[in-house]
Amino acid sequence: MTEAEKTEIKVAAICGSLRKASYNRGLIRAAIELSKEEIDGIHVEYLETSSLPMINPDLEVEGTYPAEVEEFRHKVLEADGFLFASPDYNYSITPPLKNALDWGSRPPNVWARKTAAAVSAVGGGRRAQLHLRQIGVCLDLHFINKPEFYLNAHRPPRKFNSDGDLVDSETKQQLKEVLLSLQAFTSRFQGKKKG
Ligand SMILES: Cc1cc2nc3c(=O)[nH]c(=O)nc-3n(C[C@H](O)[C@H](O)[C@H](O)COP(=O)(O)O)c2cc1C
Repeated sequence: MTEAEKTEIKVAAICGSLRKASYNRGLIRAAIELSKEEIDGIHVEYLETSSLPMINPDLEVEGTYPAEVEEFRHKVLEADGFLFASPDYNYSITPPLKNALDWGSRPPNVWARKTAAAVSAVGGGRRAQLHLRQIGVCLDLHFINKPEFYLNAHRPPRKFNSDGDLVDSETKQQLKEVLLSLQAFTSRFQGKKKG
């Protein structure tokens, strides 16, 4: 492993929406692009949650989990930190996101002592993010406080194109600030020197 690889922060990005044209997944695509093109020392990878079964401890057999869950948990373990893109469903996080958090929390809790940032494509996401942070206390998941990131994707001016890709340069800059903050926080958290 090279020195650069040792100091690179690995971020798994998780979307709370299953919608094909999800604005929140659009934010994750933009974050991946930013990590490749504009920020050294951070690698953002999309982590799929849609194939996870609904949480059910009956599916656990002698401490092992269904194949999709094992694969998901392994990817969570490999990450240094997380970028959650969370819509607001009735003032809270969505069922797919809670499901993913719950599967990862089963013993041993794979979220523990890792870092996270949350972003939302809708203004109501600030409520969901507070619930997400509260769950993070139980999971021993450590969130950056600032910058906070909420959009009003449904209101003009349009920030996403018809494919759901983020096209607004000011918003991209705000997203970049979130990634830089997560990178710096994770480096401090792990005692890593910046690459
Ligand atoms: C079941 C459900 C509940 C919702 N509740 C809220 C809400 O309480 N507040 C809000 O701002 N938006 C709410 N919405 C709207 C979504 O947050 C909004 O459509 C958002 O764009 C979804 O994210 P996505 O584009 O990534 O799929 C709700 C949507 C659904 C399907």
